[in-house]
Amino acid sequence: MTVSRYFHAVLFAASLALAICSAPALAQKLGPDGAPNPTASSVQEQQLLNELSRIEGRIDVPDRKAAVLIQPAGRMWDYFHEVLLHWGAAIVILGTLLLLAVAYIALGKLPIKEGRSGLKLVRFKAIERFSHWLTATSFVLLGLTGLNITFGKFVLLPVIGPEAFTAVSEVSKYVHNFVSFAFVVGLVLIAVIFVKDNFFQRVDIEWVKQGGGFIASKHAPAGRFNLGEKLVFWLSLGAGLAISVSGFLLLFPFSVTGIFGMQIALVIHAAVAALFIALILGHIYIGTLGMEGAFEAMGTGEVDLNWAKEHHDRWAEEQIAKGNGPKSPLATPAE
Ligand code: HEM
Repeated sequence: MTVSRYFHAVLFAASLALAICSAPALAQKLGPDGAPNPTASSVQEQQLLNELSRIEGRIDVPDRKAAVLIQPAGRMWDYFHEVLLHWGAAIVILGTLLLLAVAYIALGKLPIKEGRSGLKLVRFKAIERFSHWLTATSFVLLGLTGLNITFGKFVLLPVIGPEAFTAVSEVSKYVHNFVSFAFVVGLVLIAVIFVKDNFFQRVDIEWVKQGGGFIASKHAPAGRFNLGEKLVFWLSLGAGLAISVSGFLLLFPFSVTGIFGMQIALVIHAAVAALFIALILGHIYIGTLGMEGAFEAMGTGEVDLNWAKEHHDRWAEEQIAKGNGPKSPLATPAE
């Protein structure tokens, strides 16, 4: 067989296959009387949606985004925003609160084992406390105002009515937008100030082996921060970065990305927010209800010597060796 005859044979076989395959489709498009069936011949909407990434028209206004009539990914986004996010965030946040309540009922407030010595060690300087409280206050404001966007229409609207809810939501939205800048400043300060004390060390393994301070009969050694605190530091930094970048993409819509990017930014922002809130709820619990003597570290900047020896023995020894040893309760407070 010459090349040309071979080519014709292949062409014939392909045409035959095409005719056989398209016969049912052709029959479908023609009615029983052989006349064209307008419904079957038209393009199905679902088929269009599946094949195109979006349906765009032609418009005269300069804003090209206005030409998009249907963007199928928007339906998935809507399902995330109106269903998955509500359930997911509620389960994560309420579940964490429930776990913490169980922990409190089971363990109570962990006391300082040796009791208070009355002698104080300086734990955090003024700038360290400032960066912590700046970030913490803005986090709480961003969390509450953000949760109003997600849950306000179910939780607040039925209680305070539409007019009050509109006013609250408007103020709340401005608070969320503007406090974001303070949050980023706090986050950067925290990262710069505390990073040197949060690298993982050998003592962290020993801390885990000794039950992380939760087993009364054991002593878990630690430097300035224990492994649990180091994990909170790194997770907060990662979550803070993700939430800030996605938040600014939302705050300046379409400045960097198109509609799909905006949808991804909101998915990341909202999902990270729920997990971040859960993490910080745990952090707040240990710093207040969970452990005696912890809050004053960030409150006054000083801790009791016995607390320091119990929870951060290596750090306490270092401070004493450096000459930053305990002060009597009558000494002047930390700067
Ligand atoms: C740099 C920091 C941040 C910026 C720039 C920012 C910005 C934004 C913007 C622009 C929105 C969309 C509001 C709207 O739909 O009108 C939003 C929503 C939201 N933000 Fe933030 N945010 C930041 C940090 C945070 C933090 C720290 C949290 C949590 C503690 C948080 C929680 C939320 C929540 C829950 C929503 C609502 C998501 C939804 O249901 O649609 N945000 N944020």
